[in-house]
Amino acid sequence: MNVKELDQSYIAGTYKRFPVVLTEGKGSVIRDEIGKEYIDMGSGIGVTAFGIADDAWVKAVSGQAGALQHVSNLYYTQPCADLARMLCEKTGMKKVFFSNSGAEANECAVKAARKYAQEKYGEKRCVIATLNNSFHGRTLTTLAATGQDHYHELYNPLTPGFVSFDAGDMAALEKLNDGTLAAVMIECVQGEGGVVPLTENFAKALAAFCRKNDVLLIVDEVQTGNGRTGALYAYMNFGLQPDIVSTAKGLAGGLPLGATMLGERCENVFSYGDHGSTFGGNPVACAGALSVLSRIDEALLAEVRKKSDYVFSALKDAPGVKGLSGMGLMIGIQTEKPAGEVVSACLEKGVLCLTAKDKVRLLPALNIPMDVLKKAIDVIKEVCGN
Ligand SMILES: Cc1ncc(COP(=O)(O)O)c(C=O)c1O
Repeated sequence: MNVKELDQSYIAGTYKRFPVVLTEGKGSVIRDEIGKEYIDMGSGIGVTAFGIADDAWVKAVSGQAGALQHVSNLYYTQPCADLARMLCEKTGMKKVFFSNSGAEANECAVKAARKYAQEKYGEKRCVIATLNNSFHGRTLTTLAATGQDHYHELYNPLTPGFVSFDAGDMAALEKLNDGTLAAVMIECVQGEGGVVPLTENFAKALAAFCRKNDVLLIVDEVQTGNGRTGALYAYMNFGLQPDIVSTAKGLAGGLPLGATMLGERCENVFSYGDHGSTFGGNPVACAGALSVLSRIDEALLAEVRKKSDYVFSALKDAPGVKGLSGMGLMIGIQTEKPAGEVVSACLEKGVLCLTAKDKVRLLPALNIPMDVLKKAIDVIKEVCGN
């Protein structure tokens, strides 16, 4: 059996894969099994922050794998402690809990918020408000947090204690404020929801509401985080100081790692035994994250913003493009043709793109070279306009 047949025979059919078998790559170029090259405009859904097999990342990860690949969280390790310090120093958050994915980082955020609120105000204060059209993960709790009904079908009952309201509708949030609200959870740019940014005014109003009512503000930076939007974390574009920040995807540059950062109000909410993870904070993943995070400096972020400006200006009036949305190198393209058709045609022509709802979505590596980016955008333009 070839790879496609093996996969289809033995892997649960949750993913409709594109008809290519990818085997290797370097930077923003990936090759398939017959040697065809593709420009990677999806970076594994925002994961390979510095591209494929980035030299510094490979050195950091392989060095750590050769020294100590895993110990349990019953012991200290240097990469885990160094990474927590780096995250806190770069964000002003106070403590970090490490896990393995975005959904787990959000699960931890929900547990932290509920424990904080229930210890202080009693059991009734357990509700988490999230936004309609949000996406927070695939576990039963993070599905409950996800404000899109079609993800819920046939998985009920989900974890109780979640309500959702429309982005921008502060009056709806005020109505939900009946003494049961523990936290509000948002994405600054709704990724799976179609690359839809919140407005700065709404984000600021939300933050003020949370502060006034001692409701924790959780920002889900799983997709938007780690330089993706041209700031280290997207909430920084709005000048917010959240109480809890969850992140994953690009954090470790291609290894599974989730992080839940706790701010001043709830930094000491967890004590011994309150939460745990066998693999969370694994030294190899943390070594990868240290390599990624230490290089997301102001110069790199300025490059991300410059490349973003290029993409927006190149596609703004392009034939077949109806609109653009997003921030930094997290970009949604509303196309005249169905997005899936555009993505398939781009694949044929050697460019890997994603969709998000009815849009084409671009999440290239943060360090994609300008000439490679231009080539990919030329292909996307050609496909949209034909
Ligand atoms: C905003 C957001 N939160 C959470 C998740 C879930 O992350 P994971 O697939 O790593 O569990 C995603 C994944 O797309 C996401 O975009």
